[in-house]
Amino acid sequence: MKALVYHGPGKRAWEETPKPVLKAETDAIVRITKTTICGTDLHIMKGDVPTVTPDRILGHEGIGVVAEVGKAVSNFHAGARVLISCITSCGKCDYCKKGLYSHCEHGGWVLGNTINGTQAEYVRIPFADTSLYHIPDRTDGEALVMLSDIFPTGFECGVLNGQVKPGDTVAIVGAGPIGLATLLTAQFYSPSEIIMIDLDENRLAVSQKFGATKVVNSSDGKAVEKVMALTKNKGVDVAIEAVGIPATFDICQTIVTAGGHIANVGVHGKSVELRLEKLWAHNITLTTRLVDTVTTPLLLKTVASGRLQPKQLITHRFRLSEIMKAYDTFGNAAQERALKVILVNE
Ligand SMILES: NC(=O)c1ccc[n+]([C@@H]2O[C@H](COP(=O)([O-])OP(=O)(O)OC[C@H]3O[C@@H](n4cnc5c(N)ncnc54)[C@H](O)[C@@H]3O)[C@@H](O)[C@H]2O)c1
Ligand SMILES: [Zn+2]
Ligand SMILES: [Zn+2]
Repeated sequence: MKALVYHGPGKRAWEETPKPVLKAETDAIVRITKTTICGTDLHIMKGDVPTVTPDRILGHEGIGVVAEVGKAVSNFHAGARVLISCITSCGKCDYCKKGLYSHCEHGGWVLGNTINGTQAEYVRIPFADTSLYHIPDRTDGEALVMLSDIFPTGFECGVLNGQVKPGDTVAIVGAGPIGLATLLTAQFYSPSEIIMIDLDENRLAVSQKFGATKVVNSSDGKAVEKVMALTKNKGVDVAIEAVGIPATFDICQTIVTAGGHIANVGVHGKSVELRLEKLWAHNITLTTRLVDTVTTPLLLKTVASGRLQPKQLITHRFRLSEIMKAYDTFGNAAQERALKVILVNE
């Protein structure tokens, strides 16, 4: 079969590799029908993720059709249409029992990281019963690719951890795919204002189409002043960090109002300064989370009913065999106006 293989920083190839085989009785082999590229894959390509070693097939998102299942798999059979979760869960360890699938002792984020991933014609999925989801009849598969990672991430790490409530003022720093998924799912709770902050005018315009009530371009370094002016100097009830750098975390800790929440979503590579000398008396809550994908069943229902429309995030479509070109487009997101790219293998 063909797959996108990582060969070390800056090196990737679409090449012939052995088709995966069942290794454990709890495995399934899935034929990929649609997959996508994540910002994390770009970090891997830069060499930022040391757990990914050369010769790894990348990708942790996608949908497909079950080709084969191990003897212990009871919930899926060959021919079933499935959504692949970016988080593999054994369902049995202490962490899985607490709903912390991201910390599963035998899984977590392994696909396209420590084991071969979904940017391929076939993928082996460990613990298939607890790591795959049935695709409801007549639900658009393309929309569901957005549920492998970005929607559970925005919803769990941003909206749920930030405890967004009706009437709240919410600020989301970063209008990438994750920030936009946060924007769409925050609206489940009817906040009165959602302020999107980014450097990219195109992404801010998209944010307005997706329901942001205000947008702030922070390229002049004045995001804090602008948000304080928009909130009559009170600040926001929920500040969601969806970039992953010290500057944007600092915006969040400066604009959060007394009693508010800072929900960190971004993956940070550098230490950030926590301003406890100000925050100690501010009655705030700060949360962090690696996405658990515990809300995937809930999100599936909202997509099936049409309440959530993740397809809006798709800007580009390619054949899976054109994935090298798709990486170039996605890697050049600002110029290409790219949000999510879909790779089709049907
Ligand atoms: N916690 C988790 O489980 C989890 C899961 C997936 C992704 N993530 C992380 O979420 C973050 C967002 O992911 P994404 O795919 O949307 O990334 P992205 O790179 O596509 O988007 C980031 C956005 O931030 C904007 N930005 C950059 N610097 C800025 C600044 N100084 N001020 C304002 N905006 C700025 C960029 O213009 C861009 O639109 C990343 O750090 C990613 O690694 C976390
Ligand atoms: Zn991802
Ligand atoms: Zn587990």
